[in-house]
Parts: sequence; structure tokens; C-alpha cells
Amino acid sequence: MQTPFAYGKTVRAQHFTNRENDSKKLRSNFENGINTTLISPRRWGKSSLVEKVAGQVNSKKLVVVNIDLFPIRNEEEFYTYFSTAVIKATSNKVEVWMEIAKKYLKQISPKFSVGIDPLNDFEITLEWESVQKNYKEILSLPEKIAKEKDIKLVICIDEFQNIANFNEPDLFQKRLRSEWQHQQNVTYCLYGSKQHMMMQLFERQSMPFYKFGEIMYLQKIEEKYWIRYITLAFERTKKVITSEQASQISNMVKHHPYYVQQLAHLTWITTEKTVTLKIIEQATDDLLNQNAILYYKDTENLSATQLNFLKAVANNIEALSSKESISKYNLGTSANVSKIKETLLKNEIIDVQMGKVVFIDPAFELWFKKNILKQNLFKK
Ligand SMILES: Nc1ncnc2c1ncn2[C@@H]1O[C@H](COP(=O)(O)OP(=O)(O)OP(=O)(O)O)[C@@H](O)[C@H]1O
Ligand SMILES: [Mg+2]
Repeated sequence: MQTPFAYGKTVRAQHFTNRENDSKKLRSNFENGINTTLISPRRWGKSSLVEKVAGQVNSKKLVVVNIDLFPIRNEEEFYTYFSTAVIKATSNKVEVWMEIAKKYLKQISPKFSVGIDPLNDFEITLEWESVQKNYKEILSLPEKIAKEKDIKLVICIDEFQNIANFNEPDLFQKRLRSEWQHQQNVTYCLYGSKQHMMMQLFERQSMPFYKFGEIMYLQKIEEKYWIRYITLAFERTKKVITSEQASQISNMVKHHPYYVQQLAHLTWITTEKTVTLKIIEQATDDLLNQNAILYYKDTENLSATQLNFLKAVANNIEALSSKESISKYNLGTSANVSKIKETLLKNEIIDVQMGKVVFIDPAFELWFKKNILKQNLFKK
């Protein structure tokens, strides 16, 4: 029988649980033309949420354009990719694509190549020199198409923080912002997996995208939903788990969506019929072993004081820059502690949640406690 759990890619249908309020909110923003930025630590479910809501609203009158900047490294690639995605989303005829491109990218005058399978092997080539002079034609393309066709567009851009690595990031962001903010028929949803970079792009007053739209800070999924999700999934596949055990799985990885799914899967796969505490413990070890290479690497890259700082965090120390903590954990000076904190935040090892420094990755925290602090994870 196939596992009822899913992780490692965006989830949908029976693998997608809860997020009722987030879905409603995002859907309402899409329908009301409110630009939205989604921010959360890694693997909390941003892409899955956008994919779900995009699927719900996509229609003849409200067309969703999905763009993933994961492979995009510079401005030139961005323009090509962006214009191609917008053009392709608004019709399913190659002739129409070419017509639109010629009509609205007049100055740039694009070239086309159409392969054996025209719908899939369609490429637009833009001459970079001309794009640099006429980039506005590209950025205003969605608004012009929407107006002409009397439709609304929602443009969802994943891994948006990649634009911060382009050649002249500030200039480029200013260009995007000044074109996009006036558009009446196009709504943007911007999100990405690097929380720290996304926060810098959208929360800093000095940055072009400051107050571009609403920032939604996505939360984890609450324990009660995980309990229901896990117990139902076991039931569906004729295996037995109690609510307490499901709660244990969710708690073990602090309700982190990706890891709850992974741990539930590892538990499910070792369970013949009925889950036991021993199986959950075994599954937790499996999970840590599967990710161990990554965690070793992360740890290797830490300086001695950074490592000490994390030891203090793992030991639940809250007053990290107190004299006592500094001397007990050998953290240098309090200025040093601030610097360590800043670096670890930037490298997305830690996060500050409700004023408290925590590991951003709950499984790394478990691994760290087990292998660096030599703690017994299952001690009562
Ligand atoms: N609504 C949900 N219900 C159940 N599981 C979920 C949900 N959302 C996310 N997950 C779990 O978390 C994993 C990561 O989801 P997703 O890729 O959508 O997150 P993300 O925030 O976009 O990640 P990244 O920061 O790496 O881009 C999924 O593979 C799935 O296991
Ligand atoms: Mg994602």
C-alpha cells in the first residue's frame, strides 16, 4: 500500500490539511486586487498554499500566472521568463502568443522559435540591448493584456528573493515597483524560501518594495489539525494510531509541516498494524539519520562561539547575553553575542519567535541535542 503522507514537494488534495483561514485570506486578496507577500521559514507550506488558492481562483476572468524564479540568475533571464509566462498564460494558441508579443513588445521586437510540439517548445528571444532600453514594455505587459482582454491577472512569483542577487538589485527593484504599483488589473503574490532575504526586501523602509502590499506571516499548522490528519491517514490505510501518538509525532518536530509529514511517514512505514512508542522513537532516529549529512555540514560551518551559542539555545537558555551565560558558554563579550545572533539569523539557523531565540529547524535541534549535547531524546 502507498504511504498516505507526502513531503518534499508541494502538497494538494488529501495531503493538504487545514490552512482554512490562510486560504480564505489569500483568495480574498487575489479577488480584490491586493498585492501579497508571504513570509515564513523554510518548508512551512508557502508554495503549497499559493498553488491551492491559485487553483481555486483561476478562471477565464481571473487568470493566474505562475512564475518560479528558482532557475533565474539575472535580469536578462528574468525579462525573458516573465514575458513568456505572462503571454502563455493568457491564451492557448501559439499564433495569439506571437501576435501579443509583437503588439506589446514593439520596441523590443522579439524573435520566436516554435518546435515540433508548438505549445511546449515555444520560445521567445529578446535582444538584451533593446530590453535594457525598453524594459518598461515587459513590465507593463500584463496590465496591457488584462485591459485589452477585460480580465484580471494574478501573478504569483516563487523564490522572489533571487532578484536580490541580480547585478544592480536596487535599481531593478525600483523598476519593478514603479511599474507594478500603478497596475489596476494585475495583482502580485510574492514569496520565497529564504525568509531572511524576503524580510529584508519587504520590511525595510529604505527598500523599494516596502509597503508594496500586505505581508502575510504564515504560521505553522496547529497540533489539533495534525492529530486529525495523521489519525485519519492511518485509518484510511488500515493501521492504528492513537491521538496521543499522533500528538507525539507532531510535538516531536514542533508541528513543522514538512517534518510532521516525514516523521508520520517513517512511523507509518515501520508499522505493520499498530503504532508503538518504540516505533515512533525508531522513526525519529531514522529521520535524523536521513538528514544527518546536512546537519553535519551546517555544524562544521559554525565557529566555536557560534557552536557554544547554539548549545545555550538548545539548553533553553533565554538570557543569552547575561554575564552568567556568557561565562558558562564561553561566548566572549555581549557585543559578540549580538554579532553571533545576527549571523545565525542571517544564515537561517535560528529565528526569534515571540522574543525567544529558537532553532529554525526542529529536526536539526533534535539532532544537535542528540549528537552535540549527547542528550537522550526519549528520556521521560
Ligand atoms: N497544508 C499542508 N498540509 C499538510 N502538509 C503540508 C501543508 N503545507 C506544507 N506541507 C508539508 O510541508 C512541505 C513543504 O511545503 P511547501 O513546499 O509548500 O513549503 P514552502 O514553504 O514553499 O517551502 P520552501 O520554503 O522550501 O519553499 C510539503 O512537502 C508537505 O510535506
Ligand atoms: Mg516554496
